[in-house]
Amino acid sequence: MNIYLTKPIGLGLEDTLLAKGHRLTDQNPEAIICTLEDKIDRAFLERFSPTLKRLCTFSVGLNHIDLKAAKDLSIAVFNTPDVLTKATAELAFGLMILGQRQFLKAHRQLMKGEYKGWSPTTLLAPTLYDKTLLIVGSGRIGSEVARLAQSAFKMNVLFFKRGMNLHELLPMADVISLHLPLTDETKHFISWTEFSLMKPSALLVNTARGEIIDQEALLKALQQGLLAGAALDVTTPEPLPPSHPLFALDNVFILPHIGSATFEARTAMANLCLKNALGLDATPVF
Ligand code: DGY
Repeated sequence: MNIYLTKPIGLGLEDTLLAKGHRLTDQNPEAIICTLEDKIDRAFLERFSPTLKRLCTFSVGLNHIDLKAAKDLSIAVFNTPDVLTKATAELAFGLMILGQRQFLKAHRQLMKGEYKGWSPTTLLAPTLYDKTLLIVGSGRIGSEVARLAQSAFKMNVLFFKRGMNLHELLPMADVISLHLPLTDETKHFISWTEFSLMKPSALLVNTARGEIIDQEALLKALQQGLLAGAALDVTTPEPLPPSHPLFALDNVFILPHIGSATFEARTAMANLCLKNALGLDATPVF
């Protein structure tokens, strides 16, 4: 079979395909393996549509794909759900602890020589235990974060699901963790109005997609103290340039989209992509 990889994946994927006798080529592919960095629009799909049967993204997110065009062209779309749930939930939790206990501020004080020694009142921050966590988006990753929060930290978990009123929930939350897919509906879902409803002590965690947050509004809200801090694995754009003003703040910690970056998750994603590309036991998004 001809399979086109838009970029190298590694993790044994190419070797396995070649060992099974498949050809890695952009000529007449039956399957394409892409990543979230590719823009899979109608023009891209049309270019391959005469032979393309399966579009397989090395991600759970689908926001980079024109799903309507794929449907119109009868191209089945496959993603990598489940296998990255634990890794991403783990990272969200890491960000929660880091943000809540102000690791970045403490680290920067130390590195700048501003830390003058231990004292009973130095670098105090609220605990996560018994606090209220609002999970925005109740899919696999949001549910796993909720499970960790309840079992490890006895947090009181609230879920925002489609059809509910987010504005009623925001003022109750000590930590808000975003787990929505990016769609036209969820772009800038968290903007100035939402920031103005948060507790001034609230921490915002985003491991979903950068565009779910109106980043300009976030910067202004942090500067004006509408919330206490943010811990972000995803930004707009990615990578965020080091000169971006968010990097200057001690209460904002930013990672370069590493939610699923564990050996275990990425290997499982590669294995799932391989099955999807070959059409073995594969479940399409539609
Ligand atoms: C995904 O898969 O959509 C994540 O954002 C990256 O692993």
